[in-house]
Amino acid sequence: MTNSLSEKAVGAQNNEPAIWTLAAEPCRGTVRSMEPVLPETLAERLFSGDSFAFGFGMQRPRQEWFGWDDPRQETLRDRHHWLSQEPQRHLAWTDEATPVLLEALALFPDAPFPKESSPHPDPRPDGLLKSLSLNWEPDLLLLRRDASGQFRLVAGAVCFPSAWDLREKLGKTVDAIHADVPTLNATLGARIRAFLDRLQPGQTFERDNWGLTAHGERNAHPDRNLPRLTDDATLDTTWLRLEHQAFRALPNSGGLLFAIHLTVHPLERVLQAPGARNQLATQLRSMPEAIAAYKGILPARDALVRQLESR
Ligand code: HEM
Repeated sequence: MTNSLSEKAVGAQNNEPAIWTLAAEPCRGTVRSMEPVLPETLAERLFSGDSFAFGFGMQRPRQEWFGWDDPRQETLRDRHHWLSQEPQRHLAWTDEATPVLLEALALFPDAPFPKESSPHPDPRPDGLLKSLSLNWEPDLLLLRRDASGQFRLVAGAVCFPSAWDLREKLGKTVDAIHADVPTLNATLGARIRAFLDRLQPGQTFERDNWGLTAHGERNAHPDRNLPRLTDDATLDTTWLRLEHQAFRALPNSGGLLFAIHLTVHPLERVLQAPGARNQLATQLRSMPEAIAAYKGILPARDALVRQLESR
């Protein structure tokens, strides 16, 4: 089985929109469920520290990323929906992506699609992207070294972006991709480059990003114009977005797989953990204004801090 797509027409060229019809049923892939994320433990994991700083926070994985046994249908249904409704918004590739995609597919020894040894029935980048992204819970980004040795984004399937557009990032280096994030390149850029250069094949590392939103939607693509946090935000109408990320070097293609497993949680639930209210208040109060604006928190910051400190 490859996936439940039936293809009407596929844009093989970069940026050419692909038009697909998908079978009515969501795919029956057998991807392993990611470990459940317990909101009660999130505050300690995400809001520690005396003041806010973008953290490198790289560590050995706490969960199995590349297993293949038990699908979480709700997430896959959501992926299926966005990939069928808005494929040109959520999928992007260049022609250089094929070797990296084939190697990424081979990370799943139990997966029901062909491995490197048996040629894929649709070895074009878009066919390979569909095989993986319709069956695996995380969003995925594939990078490849250019002639100067820098990683550039060559393909992606991103159904649940946190307010950024995949199409604007295709072909760019990691530094250029991060250029819109205030202070990130200045504070962590060199460390990110060194980490990616030294990542050993066979090793997986992971880290987290978090954000706050006024909605519980997984897909926060900017084109959706979802409600934004405002100065009348309340704790019980605010959501925590957790991006759990994995990095894996792909030795044969010289590529890199960057996976993002997104979960959303009612903030009130996360705040039930002891000390969580104070910890989040500290993070929000100390967040530099430009970063709070980038994260969409600035208009709501004072209101949220007041409520966090009032109980
Ligand atoms: C290797 C270590 C990396 C670290 C420590 C890191 C860190 C970060 C941080 C802190 C943010 C801001 C998130 C927020 O607060 O909302 C960010 C944004 C982002 N990162 Fe990374 N990142 C890394 C690697 C990568 C790689 C390899 C890619 C590959 C494409 C990538 C793509 C992005 C994108 C697309 C955004 C959103 C940018 C936007 O809003 O325009 N990152 N990253």
